[in-house]
Amino acid sequence: MENLKIRSFAEYKKAYKKSVQDPEAFWSEIANTFTWQKKWDKTLEWDFRKPEVKWFQGGQINITENCLDRHLKKLGNKTAIIWEPNDPDEESRYITYRQLFVKVCRFANVLRNNGIKKGDKVCIYMPMIPELAIAMLACARIGAVHSIVFAGFSSSAIARRINDSECKMLITANEVYRGSKKVNLKEICDKALEETPSIEKVIVYRRTVEPTNMVEGRDSFWFDELQKASQDCEAEIMDAEDMLFILYTSGSTGKPKGMVHTVGGYTVGTTYTFANVFQLEKDDVYWCTADIGWITGHSYIIYGPLAAGATTVMFEGIPSYPDYGRFWEIVDKLNVTHFYTAPTAIRSLAKQPLKFVEQHDLSSLKVLGSVGEPINEEAWHWYNDNIGKGNCPIVDTWWQTETGGIMISPLAGITPTRPTFATLPLPGVQPALMDETGNEIKELNADGRLAIKFPWPSIARTIYGDHQRYKEVYFSAFENMYFTGDGAYRDATGNYRITGRVDDIVIVSGHNLGTATIENAIDEHEGVVESAVVGFPHDVKGNALYAYVILYNDVEPSDKLIKEIKDLVANTVGPIAKPDKIQFVNGLPKTRSGKIMRRILRKIASNDTGNLGDTSTLLNPEIVDEIMAEAKNI
Ligand code: WTA
Repeated sequence: MENLKIRSFAEYKKAYKKSVQDPEAFWSEIANTFTWQKKWDKTLEWDFRKPEVKWFQGGQINITENCLDRHLKKLGNKTAIIWEPNDPDEESRYITYRQLFVKVCRFANVLRNNGIKKGDKVCIYMPMIPELAIAMLACARIGAVHSIVFAGFSSSAIARRINDSECKMLITANEVYRGSKKVNLKEICDKALEETPSIEKVIVYRRTVEPTNMVEGRDSFWFDELQKASQDCEAEIMDAEDMLFILYTSGSTGKPKGMVHTVGGYTVGTTYTFANVFQLEKDDVYWCTADIGWITGHSYIIYGPLAAGATTVMFEGIPSYPDYGRFWEIVDKLNVTHFYTAPTAIRSLAKQPLKFVEQHDLSSLKVLGSVGEPINEEAWHWYNDNIGKGNCPIVDTWWQTETGGIMISPLAGITPTRPTFATLPLPGVQPALMDETGNEIKELNADGRLAIKFPWPSIARTIYGDHQRYKEVYFSAFENMYFTGDGAYRDATGNYRITGRVDDIVIVSGHNLGTATIENAIDEHEGVVESAVVGFPHDVKGNALYAYVILYNDVEPSDKLIKEIKDLVANTVGPIAKPDKIQFVNGLPKTRSGKIMRRILRKIASNDTGNLGDTSTLLNPEIVDEIMAEAKNI
């Protein structure tokens, strides 16, 4: 990793310049530091109009050889993963690189014994335990494509994702601890499995001793399978552009988008960005609090840190259990040096009495990170003052599931930071601010839509099974550019601040939620004609959801109905998608072409009704006053 690191601001500027002037030479040099099964012939071929991006063609590389094998000689006895359980009284687990290597190889053979081959899709629905890391790496070892579904999602969300990519296997755990609760994951899976004909085998890790319902011939236990597996497993030969994983993210239509990442570019991109943004030293302990079910966990708990030979912490629990000091207790106990979390967690912890922080020694900390949504000024300062004690640079990292790795961020201790700003693009990233008519805004001190002009290695290559949609969502807003869906402001010195989504995705507690998916769930209720869901500002979650719901004439609004609608959303999408507020309305503001004018609904939900803008193009302008008058009672 040392040979990848930029060490000064001058070096950053030099690297950036080179990456723009000669991207192929720039990335070739970086890629050369990795372990390839065969070197590539062509560094880059791309055309955003098609769209098509191919990095390191002709090259062959297995990410697990980069995360595991290549470290064995020098770092075999170094801790790769420190696992911290939900319950502080349970033992932490320390897994060295050598131990992890053996576990991954062995489980890779379990996959093979169960008929999984290169290219097969495997769904993983697991809690934050080391076996989740082992399962994903085992897939990568044999070239199976993992599709990890966050273990807070509902049965129908799992089934939709399994069916979209026709997964052959599901790996899960019987139960999961989450704070003071225990959730039966297997039961949730069994319900999903009623609708997933492609699944042939289910492997179940026993996290608890409770009896588990198992289906003969289909289900087997992790430990029983291990007994039958050898621990020798050669890494599969993988072309650089072979699929590594699919990860679903919300879209503006109801259907989740299966973003496809490929081996070569993703390996190079995540490792390079990890090394440079966080600037770890040899014995540092790095902790990213995300769940592996999201891209942050894929890229910056597992692949990036392991490829860089770091010690990465995996935490099973939640920040509030057994009390609000849990994060700080772990930092203290494990001597965490690098701590990476989301603004929503910072805001919720900042609300608690400071004694929860002060009880713990945080002097091991060197670098703090933020990801997932814009960090507001107050949260930034609280984090800086109380956690970093003014001594730790904060890296506010902007990126997306689609970008695979960090795109705009300070390099810790190198790039001057500015509260609420993700600052400057990493080498290889060429951002552009665009106006609504599709022209690039070249000025400083400007607001616009954020696009990227040139490919970077870890860009998602397609939406699984729907390349046309990939083109429409990301490459049709602006000619020959990737559109991020975010708005941004560029200051006088070229620093970027991300201002939030400009599409129908709302980020609630750092989770991306497509409003269309939630509307579809609400519309399933037999009393509902139609609904519209928008986000509104919330002081802890960043955004919360507000649902406007039209009922059939013979259905009376009631608290019971509100509960039914919320439960329906929790069951079809997941508890995180429950609307905070539901307003029953007689109609929705619609344009003459029948499109709901969400801009107006967003303003009403945010109680920002001073200037609603032009409503004259509405089919039914009178409905706006009616909705506004009743919104006051919600
Ligand atoms: C938002 C998470 C402001 C943004 C890695 C983006 C951010 C979406 C930041 C992607 C940040 C992420 N500042 N906004 N530092 N990081 N976002 O796919 O709107 O879960 O488009 O990836 O989160 O969310 P996703």
